[in-house]
Amino acid sequence: MLSQSDIEKAALQLASGGLVALPTETVYGLGADAGNEAAVAKIFKAKGRPSDHPLIVHVARDTDISDFTRDLPQAAEKLIAAFWPGPLTLILRKSARIPDAVTGGQDSVGLRCPAHPLAQALLAEFARIGSGIVAAPSANKFGHVSPTTAEHVKKEFGAAVGKSILLLDGGPCGVGIESTILDLSGSAPVLLRPGAITPEQIADVIGTKPKTRAQAENKGPVTRVSGDLASHYAPRTPLKLVPPAQLKKEVDALLESGKRAAVLALTTQADANVSPPGVGVRGARRLVWITAPSNAEEYARDLYANLRTLDAAGAAMIFAESPPAAKAWEAVRDRITRAAAKG
Ligand code: TXA
Ligand code: MG
Repeated sequence: MLSQSDIEKAALQLASGGLVALPTETVYGLGADAGNEAAVAKIFKAKGRPSDHPLIVHVARDTDISDFTRDLPQAAEKLIAAFWPGPLTLILRKSARIPDAVTGGQDSVGLRCPAHPLAQALLAEFARIGSGIVAAPSANKFGHVSPTTAEHVKKEFGAAVGKSILLLDGGPCGVGIESTILDLSGSAPVLLRPGAITPEQIADVIGTKPKTRAQAENKGPVTRVSGDLASHYAPRTPLKLVPPAQLKKEVDALLESGKRAAVLALTTQADANVSPPGVGVRGARRLVWITAPSNAEEYARDLYANLRTLDAAGAAMIFAESPPAAKAWEAVRDRITRAAAKG
């Protein structure tokens, strides 16, 4: 268990311009003082992220965010009351308190109040001794799978963890995929990234369903969302989405060609009728099969850990069984489709 002195140490690390990897309810973040441009530059460097990709700014609960925004629409106030702390990021017109380095030169800022108790404790302490605003993208190398455990963060940043990066271990993340991003900086709300907070839940609170990016595309300036790149959240092994009925054929064909296969399925291996290929050359398993939870929330919670496990299997291909078309699966479908778009 982490103690108050660990939190104080981490807040001091932020205050002195250093990096802190922190747990949130969605994924682990790589945080720095959002008020300190030199500190923010360290995030881009560590991640290998292009500097024009804006970062989300994290705040403690009950922070008066009007300091950081030029205007606070009523919709934002309602959504904050309904969902903060929680996995909803709001894009709002930024005030001069938010440096351009954080927003990649954009006029807007993404604000998020994470629900994880350790993140809240750190943000509260950093509000006491520092600026209270923490810029934190997911704690992974640019384009790679987001981390949902402290171990994943160590794998991403290696020896830097414990040296230039202070890591707070808050256990596995409960949500497992990144926050919903809602753009409230334009004339109508736009959903930039689906997540655990759904468009239906948002509509219940503000009375209108957010537009999709496609619907909003030709209005206003182009918003840069790195999570919006076709290829993102990707394992290093190529990943292919496969309809349930074709899973057997695809897996068998790869195995027959003598290569290793990895599978993220919703069905069990027995139900898919794929027979165990046994142990291959040098004792390596030739097929690694994960049957993911059949409930969308649990599937999302385990998704990135499952992709990392399959990525480590040394397979020629990861086959992911296409998730259902139902609304509840929208965020999962978004991530897995992007993971498949690599190359
Ligand atoms: O759940 C999350 O949101 C996690 C945890 C750590 O809080 N953070 C996260 O950050 O996913 P990141 O940087 O990996 O993804 C944030 C996304 C990026 O795609 C970025 O482009 C977009 O938010 N974003 C940030 N500020 C923006 C802005 N002003 N306008 C448009 N998009 C913005
Ligand atoms: Mg990310």
